[in-house]
Amino acid sequence: MEKITVIGAGNVGATCANVIAHKDLSREVVLVDIKEGMAEGKALDIWQTSSINNFNSRVVGVTNNYLRTKGSGVVVITSGMPRKPGMSRDDLIKTNAEIVKDVTEKVIKYSPEAVIIVVSNPLDVMTYVAYRTANKHSNKVFGMAGILDTGRYKAFIAEALNVSPKDIHAMLLGGHGDTMVPLPRYTSINGIPVTELLGKEEIEKIVDRTRKGGGELVSLMGTSAWYAPGAAAAQMVEAIVDDQKRIFPVSAWLQGEYGQKDIYLGVPAKLGRNGIDEIIEIKLDAKEKKMLDESAQSVREVIDVLNKMKVLD
Ligand code: LAC
Repeated sequence: MEKITVIGAGNVGATCANVIAHKDLSREVVLVDIKEGMAEGKALDIWQTSSINNFNSRVVGVTNNYLRTKGSGVVVITSGMPRKPGMSRDDLIKTNAEIVKDVTEKVIKYSPEAVIIVVSNPLDVMTYVAYRTANKHSNKVFGMAGILDTGRYKAFIAEALNVSPKDIHAMLLGGHGDTMVPLPRYTSINGIPVTELLGKEEIEKIVDRTRKGGGELVSLMGTSAWYAPGAAAAQMVEAIVDDQKRIFPVSAWLQGEYGQKDIYLGVPAKLGRNGIDEIIEIKLDAKEKKMLDESAQSVREVIDVLNKMKVLD
């Protein structure tokens, strides 16, 4: 691919650009920030690892210069305030909605064809803001959360079983919040159902820790995580650039799938060159369905708050 842009040179954006560069996914990686010098500095720092880490992608940073992003094939939006201890992702809503709207308008102006991946929180609602602002097909506007959340889930399972995280396969549904729905029934260790290897209580503990996984890091560091969020977004970019048809949990615009309509929610989706190729509906039992409905409800509550703020009008 010719050009990939990452908006926001904070911890998540810079990590994402770094991983994208390492994977050599495009001739050029453009990092954009509003803070003078920040994107330029981090991009230069990443670029100076090219000979050490053996990649060709030219990494450049700019301050608010969207003209430099012109013609991007994929744009990752990480802009916004991160969480501080005691804050929920939803506390960020107004500030970040205005930022995401503004950024999306500028992105679309110069890269009308780009696939847009939103990483800003509260994730599912910010993805909705980008979708409404970009005014393009929903297969090209979606959010990153499920890869991060399953990444955490898999790390905890690998630790509990003392096995390679590479062998763990899992699916997770719902919003990127404490109501997310990890699915032990769809979790295996190279085909062996996790339920064969771990007890019910142990699985419950892991599910609970996964749900609060972002918060655990906020309380440890005083700000939200970046290595896993950045790498997770880069994995989506890779699937798109290489037209991999990989199936990941993605925050996607639902139009009746899973009994939900007009909402962004984490579901399994196939990613390829055009963004989302297909949303995959898996069978849920009554308990899983109920949890998904509750998760959707909590995302809708945030959308209601957003609508009252009239950011999108
Ligand atoms: C997290 C933030 C990035 O889950 O939402 O770490």
